Amino acid sequence: HFNRKELRRGSMADHVLVFPFPLQGHVNSMLKLAELLSLAGLHVTFLNTNYNLRLLASHSVAYARLARSPRFRFLSIPDGFEDERRRSASRLLDLLESLQTRSVGPYKDLLLDLQHRDEDGYRGWPALTCVIADGIMTFAADVAREVGVPAMFFRTVSACSIWSYLCIPELLRTGELPFPEDADLDEPIRNVPGMEGFLRRRDLSIFCRNAKDSSDPRLRLVCTATADTVRARALILNTFESLEPCALEHIRSRCPVTYCIGPLHALLRTYYRLTSRSDEEEVRSTASASLWQEDRSCMSWLDAQPGRSVVYVSFGSLTVMSPEDFTEFWLGLVNSGQRFLWVVRRDLVDGKELGEGAAAAGATPAQLEKATRERGCLVEWVPQEEVLAHPAVGCFLTHSGWNSTLESLVAGVPMLCWPFFADQQINSRFVGEVWRVGLDMKDMHGRDIVEKMVREMMEGNKAEELRTSAANMAEMARDSVSSTGGSSFTEFEKLIQDIRSLRP
Ligand code: UDX
Repeated sequence: HFNRKELRRGSMADHVLVFPFPLQGHVNSMLKLAELLSLAGLHVTFLNTNYNLRLLASHSVAYARLARSPRFRFLSIPDGFEDERRRSASRLLDLLESLQTRSVGPYKDLLLDLQHRDEDGYRGWPALTCVIADGIMTFAADVAREVGVPAMFFRTVSACSIWSYLCIPELLRTGELPFPEDADLDEPIRNVPGMEGFLRRRDLSIFCRNAKDSSDPRLRLVCTATADTVRARALILNTFESLEPCALEHIRSRCPVTYCIGPLHALLRTYYRLTSRSDEEEVRSTASASLWQEDRSCMSWLDAQPGRSVVYVSFGSLTVMSPEDFTEFWLGLVNSGQRFLWVVRRDLVDGKELGEGAAAAGATPAQLEKATRERGCLVEWVPQEEVLAHPAVGCFLTHSGWNSTLESLVAGVPMLCWPFFADQQINSRFVGEVWRVGLDMKDMHGRDIVEKMVREMMEGNKAEELRTSAANMAEMARDSVSSTGGSSFTEFEKLIQDIRSLRP
């Protein structure tokens, strides 16, 4: 039974350092985890890179609120990577390498400082109890252990993707990887236990598809980082038991202490309610961990649209698409006759001018812009959780990033998936084939496909069927975070007890 006062009283003497990989998708979920720890009574240091802290301080509503909290503080260290081009999946390895070389020293010094009671500036802060590091940065846990601080890992991706990554050595051993040249991508995968029968080559991460041999750097990164993650004393995942039971069972056979405490943004709402911040609207708008300015004008645009009439389109924070693909999507959306709200980040389209792609596709930007003014709205960055919860939104055309997937599941919005990299290929397969809350448009291109699938998502029997399963799934997600026996709620309490047991 939840006794908030008791839980908070018992946790006051603990201090956790939360250290995300410095990209939007990682900062979002780990800031939510950090806020939850703080609501449970712990002292929390949230460690950013200097660059991201500046962005967070300028744009995040959550930052503004948490920075005032007496048990929460933001600190930062350099990452040696000070330019905007970081916002691209192709720079991921460079960013990690830069962190490994440039941040390790300052990070170690910080941990050594925090091991002692903090008398300076933050009077009364307890010594560091443990580090929760992003599982992609295994060095963060190594350094913590080196200085004698226990470390746990948090992974921002789905359990199904983690399980598939853990199977990569077996896929290599049995010759299923690398794929032969001209491989049939619809061929089933045999050596990911629990996913036989529906997992195809094309559903494995794009890293697998692109790898020529086992020395491929991205393949090695996912393999070693994941193998290291499950060797941790505890693994924390942003998922819930009833969503991925099979993958979780397999992961627990390697890492018995695995806490599933997601969807984190929904668990946070439960905690807000328990701490009597009950206004749903306020809850959504105060949780934002955006690194960029949110354009709230889209909310009044949505207010003016009929119920479930809008296709919300966003490819997350890292996807970069060709001008040709961009234009085909644009034409498909316009030709579908549906209303649409599209997040077009300044760096969404690769290099060339938008107009070039449009001309090649037989349309001028002016024609597209005219059609968009009639039925669409393009913005650079939106408050996504709020958008998905808006009654005007009928479906989500998404790249299947894990945060976006969870946010859509909780809001009960069916998804049309166009995955790009990392866990997105497998997430979209689960959306289409396992959870049946959307359609998988993986590897399909062209305006006609987009038009056809958007219509299917919005009109007719299929659309109705998807809405019903999305509503059921939303209920399952809500159950998991309920304060009366929800699995994620209960596991979060266990995590707090576990952290408390580590107190030096
Ligand atoms: C990536 C991976 O895709 C993801 O699978 C991994 O778990 C974390 O890193 P990203 O590609 O950015 O992240 O996608 P996603 O996980 O969906 O995260 C994007 C976040 O940005 C979401 O929380 C979404 O709400 C937020 N967002 C997106 C906004 O707040 N506004 C926007 O306009 C678009």
